[in-house]
Amino acid sequence: MRSPQAVSLLAAVLNLTHHVAAEIFDVPSVDNFVRRFSCTSIVLGNYVYIDGGEITQYENGSNTASASNIVNSTLSLDLTTSWTTTEAVLKSSPKAPGPVKGNVVLWADHARNTLYSWGGKWQFGANMKKTELWKFLADGSGGGKWSTEQPSNPSRFNELVPAEFIAFATVNNTGYAIGGQASGWTQLYRGSNQAIPGMLSYNFDTREWTNSTDLSPFHTIAQASAQYVPTFGPGGVVMVMGGSMPDVDRAPSIANSPAQDFQNLTFFDPAASKTYWQVATGEIPPSPRSEFCSAGWQNTDGGYEIFIFGGDNKAVSGYPKYRDAYVLSLPGFVWTKLPEPPAGGRAYHSCVSAGKRQVLSIGGLGDSGSKEKDKAPQGLLVFDMTAMKWVDFYNASLDAYEAPGVIKDWYAKGSLDKVQWSSETVKKMFVEQKQDLPGNGDGDDGTSTEPNKSGTTSTPVAAIAGGVVGGVVALAAIGMVAWFLVRRRRRGANGIANNTDAKDPMHQVLPPMLPGTVTQYPAEVGDSLQYSELSGDGRARPNPEKPSGANGLAELSHNGVQSAQHLKAQSFTAELHGDDVRR
Ligand SMILES: *[C@@H]1O[C@H](CO)[C@@H](O)[C@H](O)[C@H]1NC(C)=O
Ligand SMILES: *[C@@H]1O[C@H](CO)[C@@H](O)[C@H](O)[C@H]1NC(C)=O
Ligand SMILES: *[C@@H]1O[C@H](CO)[C@@H](O)[C@H](O)[C@H]1NC(C)=O
Ligand SMILES: *[C@@H]1O[C@H](CO)[C@@H](O)[C@H](O)[C@H]1NC(C)=O
Ligand SMILES: *[C@@H]1O[C@H](CO)[C@@H](O)[C@H](O)[C@H]1NC(C)=O
Ligand SMILES: *[C@@H]1O[C@H](CO)[C@@H](O)[C@H](O)[C@H]1NC(C)=O
Ligand SMILES: *[C@@H]1O[C@H](CO)[C@@H](O)[C@H](O)[C@H]1NC(C)=O
Repeated sequence: MRSPQAVSLLAAVLNLTHHVAAEIFDVPSVDNFVRRFSCTSIVLGNYVYIDGGEITQYENGSNTASASNIVNSTLSLDLTTSWTTTEAVLKSSPKAPGPVKGNVVLWADHARNTLYSWGGKWQFGANMKKTELWKFLADGSGGGKWSTEQPSNPSRFNELVPAEFIAFATVNNTGYAIGGQASGWTQLYRGSNQAIPGMLSYNFDTREWTNSTDLSPFHTIAQASAQYVPTFGPGGVVMVMGGSMPDVDRAPSIANSPAQDFQNLTFFDPAASKTYWQVATGEIPPSPRSEFCSAGWQNTDGGYEIFIFGGDNKAVSGYPKYRDAYVLSLPGFVWTKLPEPPAGGRAYHSCVSAGKRQVLSIGGLGDSGSKEKDKAPQGLLVFDMTAMKWVDFYNASLDAYEAPGVIKDWYAKGSLDKVQWSSETVKKMFVEQKQDLPGNGDGDDGTSTEPNKSGTTSTPVAAIAGGVVGGVVALAAIGMVAWFLVRRRRRGANGIANNTDAKDPMHQVLPPMLPGTVTQYPAEVGDSLQYSELSGDGRARPNPEKPSGANGLAELSHNGVQSAQHLKAQSFTAELHGDDVRR
C-alpha cells in the first residue's frame, strides 16, 4: 500500500523519530564515546565483565557530549582473542531484571560460572528498591542472566546496610566487602550518610552472610582497594590499600577522614581471621589516594605483583586525579613507579588482570569531568606488566607473566634479606613459608602453582576525602576486621592537624529538600558524598527521583546550576572543582 497518506505518515514518523529519539547507547561507537565511569569489572572464564556505571557520548552527530546516562546492560570483552583498544568489541547483554547501579561490588564464583553483585548506588535515584544480592549466571559466550540469590540467613541479611565505595575481593568461595559508605542513594529511604564499619563476607556455597565488625564504632574504610594475593600465608592474604577512614559517628567529611598511606600496608589472612601490617620501601605512591584501581599478578618466580593506577586526591580542592601508576612486589614489599599512561589521569575507573600478563583499565573520569572525551579509545588502556609499558592492544597470546627486569634485579641483589619484617609471623608468611613450597629452591626462585584467577579486581571504592595520614594506633588485631583501625589515631589525640587546607564541603548547608523536588545529582560520583546527598540537616535525601526532563540532574550538576534552589549546590561545585574543571 503506497497511498500518499501512508507515505506522509511514514515521513512524519521518521521525522519525529529523527527529532525525538536521541540515539544513545551503552556501547557507543569509538568516535561517539566520551567517558565511561563508576563501572566495576571482573574476569570470569574467558571474559572481562563490565557492570554498572554511567556513560557520556556524542549524540546527533554533534561533538558536544551528552549528560551522563545510566548504563543499562552488562558488557563483556573476549579475552581469547587479541584486539586493539579501538577495535575491542564490547558485547552487551540486557541487565533487566538486574539492578541498574554504579559502584557495585562484584565477586566471581568460578565454580558456578557466576558473578555476584552487592551494594552500589542507584544512579539518579532511579527505580530504587530494597537491596538484594544479585547473581549473573554467565552463558560462556560473554552474556548471561541476572537473578536474585536468597541468603540462607535472611534475618542477618536484612540487617545489612547496603553501601557504595566498598573495597572488595573474592577469596575462593567467599566474597569480602570491606567498609564503604551508605547514603540515600545506596539504600531505599535511608536518611543519613554514614561510613560503614567492618567487613562483610558472603559464602557462595552456604549462601551465608557474616558481618564481622568488631565492637568499636570507628573502624571504617572508604574508597580503598582490596587485592587477594593467593601466594603467601597459609591461604593467601588480602591487601587493603589507600582510601580513607572516616569517623563512623557523624556524616563523613574530609576533616574526619584520615587517609591510609601506601607505606605501612595492611592485610588480613582470611583463613586465620587475622590482620597484619608491613612497611613497604621503594617509590611509595603519594597519598591521600582514593578511587584508584588495582590488579594483581603471580609471577613465574613465585612472587606476586600488585599494580595500582590513578585515583584522586580528596585533600586538594578540585580533587585532582592522579595519572601515575605503581607496582608493589611481594614478598619484598617494594614499590616501583611505572611509566605514566598516555591518556591522562583518572579516577572512578576499574582494572583487571587480563590474559597472561596485561592489566586492562576501564573507564574513569579525568580532571575535566564526564564531558571531556577520554583520550583512551573506548576508555580502555592496557599495561604490559613484564615489558612495563602502556600499549594500545590486548594480546591474547603473550607468555606467562615474568616480573620486569627492575624487580628481578631487586631480588637478585639480595634485597629480600634486608627487609625489616614487622614480625616473625609476617616474615614467615612471606619468606619462610614460601621457601617451603615444593619446587622452591631459594627465596625468589620457585615454580608457582598458578592458582585459578580469583577475580580480585578492585574498583575504586568508597568516598570521602583524604585528610592525612592519621597517626598510628598500636593495635592488637582482633579478628579479621581489626585492620580497619590501622594507622588510625583518635582525632582527639592528634587533632588531624594536616587537614588545614582541605575544604570541607560536608559542613556546608544544602537547601532543604522539598517533597518531590530533586537533589542535585553529582556529576562525579565522588562528589555526591561531599555535597549532593546532604540536605541542610546533614541527612541524605532518601529515595530521590529523577526529574521529568531527561538528564536534567546530571546536566545541572555539570557546569551550571540554574534554579535558585540549586544555587547553593552550585557554589559547592565551583568550590570543589574550582578552576580545575575548566583547565
Ligand atoms: C538507560 O535507561 C534509562 C531509563 O530508561 C535511560 O534514561 C538511559 O538513557 C538509558 N541509558 C542509555 C545509555 O541508553
Ligand atoms: C540530540 O537530540 C535530541 C533530540 O532533539 C536532544 O534531546 C538531545 O539533547 C541532543 N543531544 C545532544 C548532545 O545535543
Ligand atoms: C556490621 O555491623 C556493624 C556493627 O553492628 C554495623 O555498624 C555495620 O553497619 C554492619 N555492616 C553492614 C554492612 O551492615
Ligand atoms: C583457597 O584455596 C586454595 C586452593 O584450594 C587453598 O590452598 C587456600 O587455603 C584457600 N584459601 C582460603 C583463605 O580458604
Ligand atoms: C603477541 O604476543 C606474541 C607472543 O609473545 C607475539 O609473538 C606477538 O607478536 C604479539 N602480538 C603483537 C601484536 O605484538
Ligand atoms: C581451574 O578451573 C578449571 C575450570 O573451572 C578447573 O577445571 C580446574 O580444576 C581449576 N584448577 C584449580 C587449581 O583449581
Ligand atoms: C603500621 O600500622 C600498624 C597498625 O596501625 C601499627 O601498629 C604499626 O606501628 C605501624 N608501623 C609503623 C612502622 O608505623
